[in-house]
Amino acid sequence: MTDLESVLNDRLAVAFAAVAGAPADPVVRRSQHADFQADGALPLARRLGRAPRDVAADALARADLADLVATAQISGPGFINLTLRDDALAGLLGVMSGDERLGVPTAAVPETVVIDYSAPNVAKELHAGHLRTTVIGDAAARILEWLGHDVRRANHIGDWGTPFGMLIEHLLDLGETEAMQELSVGDLNGFYQAARVKFDADPVFAERSRGRVVALQAGDDTTLRLWRLLVDESEKYFLAAYDKMGITLTADHFYGESYYNDMLDPVVDALDGLGLLRESDGAQCVFPRGFTGRDGEPMPIIVRKRDGGYGYGATDLAAIRHRTQDLKATWLLYVVGSPQQQHLEMVFQCAREAGWLAAPARAVHVGFGQVLGADGKKLASRAGDTVKLVELLDEAVIRAAAIVREKNPDLDAETRAEVARMVGIGAIKYVDLSSDRIKDYAFDWDRMLSFSGDTGAYLQYTYARINSIFRRGGVVPDRSAAVLLDQPAERALAMELLGFAAVVTDAAATLQFHRLTGYLQHLAGAYTAFYENCPVLKSEGAVLASRLLLCDLTARVIAQGLDLLGIETPERM
Ligand code: ARG
Repeated sequence: MTDLESVLNDRLAVAFAAVAGAPADPVVRRSQHADFQADGALPLARRLGRAPRDVAADALARADLADLVATAQISGPGFINLTLRDDALAGLLGVMSGDERLGVPTAAVPETVVIDYSAPNVAKELHAGHLRTTVIGDAAARILEWLGHDVRRANHIGDWGTPFGMLIEHLLDLGETEAMQELSVGDLNGFYQAARVKFDADPVFAERSRGRVVALQAGDDTTLRLWRLLVDESEKYFLAAYDKMGITLTADHFYGESYYNDMLDPVVDALDGLGLLRESDGAQCVFPRGFTGRDGEPMPIIVRKRDGGYGYGATDLAAIRHRTQDLKATWLLYVVGSPQQQHLEMVFQCAREAGWLAAPARAVHVGFGQVLGADGKKLASRAGDTVKLVELLDEAVIRAAAIVREKNPDLDAETRAEVARMVGIGAIKYVDLSSDRIKDYAFDWDRMLSFSGDTGAYLQYTYARINSIFRRGGVVPDRSAAVLLDQPAERALAMELLGFAAVVTDAAATLQFHRLTGYLQHLAGAYTAFYENCPVLKSEGAVLASRLLLCDLTARVIAQGLDLLGIETPERM
């Protein structure tokens, strides 16, 4: 265990419990006055009706800290300031260096986690709006998997419903070959819009489309075959975009809305059996407790529409039931934009009432704000259309290539292209993950691609620079070398490195990835200060070995941290 905060917390908890005669939280956190401080004496003193400084002194006297703590002081009203022993820090860094996982423990209770993310709609373009769910969901999948959870990626694509009537009829009008050609060049929006225009303008076409929906729902063979053509073509297109973007979603993770078709009838029956189904305006509805509209009336999830068809809500109910009952998942994440918050909360509440979402199982809406243009308005192309996601990715890589060429003209063309890809895609992911996800953020290319500041490129650059030290010196760091922390900058870097485990655990629990990016920035800052103050290749013997180990650990933590966010690290740039 290299997580200092937890180690100190555990040790002090024993002492606090002895003072309190019952469990009491020592409340340990990083401090500006010392390495750590424990503030738990204050609330405990209130509980016991004693003076806080006495309680702090009492706890300290009972605490077994000698091997870890150099000085412990009581300050102010009863804070305990703790400064760690250098040899303790060095020892923990040694453990961290020898550990593949860099001191990050796997989850104490591994769970089956379903992560519902990306979820584009068939025959529609992936646009900038899909960026966030895809990037955030993928980071969640990576981090939870690394912590040992059984992660099930669920790409809930919109592959069913009334639009398919007009899409299939349009496909027939064009002829299969022609239609497939149009779709395979990736002009999904054009196809969709053409169908839409005909549907609105031509009553005969509209009638055919409605008939086609009925045939589709009835499972007509020809109709299903044509539907499959559309779905397959879109899926190919989505996969190509994921590949370009370095997203871990594959063909195995498509669980589109149609996947739940056979589960819809049983879900309705089950809800009916539980007495949760009510008719309203000819539709079968559930009214989950606690949701009322502006008029004070309870709000429905429409399960079965008046025409007998099932809607988006029914599918989500079937999906949640499937996830907890069949997959036995206990942690359900829905990485979906904030506008769908109420819909999801209603689905969760309904599932609770139906007994499909009972402890320890829980569902979490991982919401997020919008992507804005540099002008602060919704991101749009020059013509005012929504921006295609692949165009955004391509632009990032092109811009990154220009910057990389300028920064390092010596890179050969192949390496430069590879670095540009990592930097461009990384910049897009980083900007998405580095702010509180609930907030909107603005796309600002120059800032995003800068090699300094709070950017992915800065972290990648720090990593590459460390590698260049090893290359220049022709040295391979010895991961079992003894760590020496004589210089303040070495000690400060050590403290940052030892914070990795806590921050990963925290980011996984809260799915607030900006805490991890913020940590990596601090680490890179501490490394820079170390590098400026402590010569590495010019030092010798044990000092050289120790400093190389610190460089190596920094590079490993940056690479691992970025990897958890889905961002690659070039060896040189
Ligand atoms: N396809 C939906 C959309 O584009 C998102 C689906 C989100 N997931 C879910 N289980 N409802 O809005």
